[in-house]
Amino acid sequence: MDLRLERVENPKKRPDDSKLGFGQVFTDHMFNMDYAPESGWHNARIEPYGPIVMDPATMVLHYGQAIFEGLKAYRTSDGKIQLFRPERNVARFNRSAQIMCIPEVDEAFALSAIKRLVAIEKDWVPRAPETSLYIRPTIVAMDPYLGVRPSHTYRFFVILSPVGAYYPEGFNPLKIWVTDKYVRAVRGGVGEAKTPANYAASLFGAEVAKEAGYTQVLWLDAVERRYIEEVGTMNIFFVLNGELATPPLGGSILPGITRDSVLALARRWNVPVAERPVTIDEIMDAHKNGSLQEIFGSGTAAVISPVNHLAWRDEELTIGDGGVGPMAQKFYAAITDIQYGRAEDPSGWIVPVE
Ligand code: COI
Repeated sequence: MDLRLERVENPKKRPDDSKLGFGQVFTDHMFNMDYAPESGWHNARIEPYGPIVMDPATMVLHYGQAIFEGLKAYRTSDGKIQLFRPERNVARFNRSAQIMCIPEVDEAFALSAIKRLVAIEKDWVPRAPETSLYIRPTIVAMDPYLGVRPSHTYRFFVILSPVGAYYPEGFNPLKIWVTDKYVRAVRGGVGEAKTPANYAASLFGAEVAKEAGYTQVLWLDAVERRYIEEVGTMNIFFVLNGELATPPLGGSILPGITRDSVLALARRWNVPVAERPVTIDEIMDAHKNGSLQEIFGSGTAAVISPVNHLAWRDEELTIGDGGVGPMAQKFYAAITDIQYGRAEDPSGWIVPVE
């Protein structure tokens, strides 16, 4: 498929790399492509970043039929721009598309369009330590129609944002609030899709947690409200007596690419690994008997986020010594070293942009 390019006339002033937050500034260009039943995905173009004009009846605004992805482009010390396992993001995008009744995209074309867009915007990939260019592919339902059914037309767009740390805490421990009152997703629903509904569902609980002085929520399963599922917008890991445990992907949990990378590295390092159900009671008991060594979250945005406090009912636990645990530190260093080209890439996770 052709990819048309229209360059911006007046490029924006770029922000100071050392002051970047997350997702606040956007680059000069974006990718756009449309879908209609008679023509399939068509009219692929890279053009100046700008608003998407929508009829007020556009279906995504009413029923939330949409999917998105999140990945990053990294600048190496010798100036190369590279992606981390982007084929996984594109494959997950199509899995989310299936769940949300959205027509799938050609994965090779989508990846080549992302690479082309990043190459055009390569000067926007920041240089300051631990910064990157966040890539946000999205598809939204475009029919102007108020009946409830899958849309017939769609817009696929990709925008780019130079980013620093996701959490203001940076790579510092988070305080987590466990709730059995609010739930994020239920098996048989859309929890494993990267779709706005899951993030909307998490907002109220997260606000309650914030008011109580915590950074994020630790989500339990929606049925028995005992099994740990995710932390905030991240997958979760526990180090229990030297074993690295994480909940299995049962349909309500997002299949994280950082999660998969942590598991792959642990297996390479001969760390005992278990994808198994973990209950909140097991974690409380493990803390009491001294076998709970670490808790951390994993995600594209924050990479690894150590957890140092966990509040459940009327108990508040301090995890480890309240600092960053050695496993969290080791995974963070290993993954970011590969992403920024500071270490070997024995698994072929790196994809150069040009
Ligand atoms: C991630 O951890 O990468 C996320 O999913 C966060 C994103 C929604 C900003």
